Amino acid sequence: MRAVTIREKVLSVDDHPEPALGHGQVLVQVAAAGLNGADMMQRRGHYPAPLGSPPDIPGLELAGTVAAVGPGATRFNVGDRVMGIVGGGGQAQLAVVHERILMPVPQGLDLVAAGGLPEVFTTAHDAIFTQGGLRSGERLLVHGGAGGVGTAAIQLATVAGAEVTATVRNPDHHDAVAALGASVFSPEQFIEATTGDPQSLAAIGGPFDVIIELVGAVNLAGNLMAVNVNGRISIIGTSAGAKGEINLGLLMMKRARIYGSTLRARPLEEKALTARAMEKMVLPHFATGALTVPVAETFPLEEAVAAYDRFAAGGKLGKILLTN
Ligand SMILES: NC(=O)c1ccc[n+]([C@@H]2O[C@H](COP(=O)([O-])OP(=O)(O)OC[C@H]3O[C@@H](n4cnc5c(N)ncnc54)[C@H](OP(=O)(O)O)[C@@H]3O)[C@@H](O)[C@H]2O)c1
Repeated sequence: MRAVTIREKVLSVDDHPEPALGHGQVLVQVAAAGLNGADMMQRRGHYPAPLGSPPDIPGLELAGTVAAVGPGATRFNVGDRVMGIVGGGGQAQLAVVHERILMPVPQGLDLVAAGGLPEVFTTAHDAIFTQGGLRSGERLLVHGGAGGVGTAAIQLATVAGAEVTATVRNPDHHDAVAALGASVFSPEQFIEATTGDPQSLAAIGGPFDVIIELVGAVNLAGNLMAVNVNGRISIIGTSAGAKGEINLGLLMMKRARIYGSTLRARPLEEKALTARAMEKMVLPHFATGALTVPVAETFPLEEAVAAYDRFAAGGKLGKILLTN
């Protein structure tokens, strides 16, 4: 089979043997696989795949049809439309996924868009609801609102009845992100609004009960000013810095929490729990059309180098996908 390949920081599309099916596993004929920041890191020689995932085939999410089921796998049949997160190996013609982390593709959602759904919607749902406890009527702030996780977080919180503010760097995408349900501001407007004046903070929709940080430490001081009493700050992305200074006094006075999270390295049991939460609480909203996967661009698998370069250039709205 053909698969995107990263060896010694060189990205190519190469031939690989078909993956072997183990107990409880499903062979998926991949229709589309989303690109993520983790793939960019893997290309640069960082963030290797966890044990048990193909070490040289990137790809954290995919959608396709079931080509075969392994011994003991009972959840799906050949031909079913499925999608899921994987530790690696998604950007290929075929991928092996444990049936417990696969989800059915909601009716009405095409397989290409579905290939960009699992990683970003699972990450956003887990961060702001499962861990952050966001409730209807609360206020969410999303930094990096035009990206894959950002557009997912805005839609999920809007559907749940929260009030959403987002920061978006590219002014061309402010209107489109606002159409997903958020009040949109530039990163500079956020910094200006978080110098300590409550009215400036209120003007951008704060203080915030939950903040999902998809950009990095540049927002740390502002987030501590912007978080509400009893608020929660979820650290998910650090491309714009991983180190910063925390005003512990402010954190304490606000009785706030800062927590970090990753999906990729979690054991099967924990990944399966996120998939069941998605099936119960998120996927029904795709079937009604209330949630969508914004697709910025698609590339054939053989053009993976161009797709990676497009992702790394930034400035997109939503997901970039490889298709078969
Ligand atoms: N912890 C986890 O389990 C997990 C899971 C998924 C993703 N992540 C990480 O979370 C982050 C977001 O993921 P994603 O899939 O949404 O990525 P994405 O699609 O690339 O979106 C990132 C967004 O952040 C913006 N951004 C980046 N640097 C910025 C800066 N210095 N100032 C202002 N905005 C900036 C980007 O704007 P431009 O387009 O203008 O650059 C883009 O809109 C990434 O770092 C990713 O690696 C973590």
